[in-house]
Amino acid sequence: MKRLAGRNAAGTVASGMRLGLGTGSTVAHFLEHLGERLACGEVSDVVGVPTSVRTEEAARRLRIPLATLEELGSLDLAVDGADEVDPALDLVKGLGGALLREKMVAQAAARMLVIVDDSKLVGRLGERAPVPVEVVAFGHASHIAWLRDLGAEPRLRAGGDGVPYRTDNGNLILDCRFDGGIGDPAELESRLAHRAGVVESGLFLDLAGEAVVAGTEGVRRLGGNAA
Ligand code: A5P
Repeated sequence: MKRLAGRNAAGTVASGMRLGLGTGSTVAHFLEHLGERLACGEVSDVVGVPTSVRTEEAARRLRIPLATLEELGSLDLAVDGADEVDPALDLVKGLGGALLREKMVAQAAARMLVIVDDSKLVGRLGERAPVPVEVVAFGHASHIAWLRDLGAEPRLRAGGDGVPYRTDNGNLILDCRFDGGIGDPAELESRLAHRAGVVESGLFLDLAGEAVVAGTEGVRRLGGNAA
């Protein structure tokens, strides 16, 4: 299903577009099909800004032309996966650890298209996935009690070897579970934004305008011009 969603989104890329290239296994399928379309000349003059080292490497392998956000400044379309999508197309993202760059790229884009399988659809954000909160390493444990007061159960992300996971920006991640989901995501985002040492959260509110959702019955579009 991830493949279906990724390929469908790649089919909508037009020549000349400046793209934000998200991160994750669904985006991997998007990149693959975009690479095929570029190779056979179906689209041309496309350039992408990768949101992670992983995506940058995949795009290079597939010969997708790349640029930096500094070089382009603004983008036409950001295409990215998500861990949760609610009915307003607000998202939880960042289980892949790329949330900061993903959010910067989404904010720089005129449109954000989310690509998911239907297991990612939720009634309320936080009901299934933890919300990743990227923090600087200095004093990171000082956020634990504060996050608990906000209703979260935070956990420092670690790799299989038990060593704390580091983002592409060298920061740490506190994965925050919310029992029963998040009552007021906008309030939570605002509280996190005002906390020194918190770099970014995986709450993506009012950013996605459209979603490609793949399920057993095929692909449907939510938002945008979809019915
Ligand atoms: C990466 O940091 C994440 O935001 C991903 O977009 C998200 O985890 C979705 O990943 P999958 O497409 O692999 O499910």
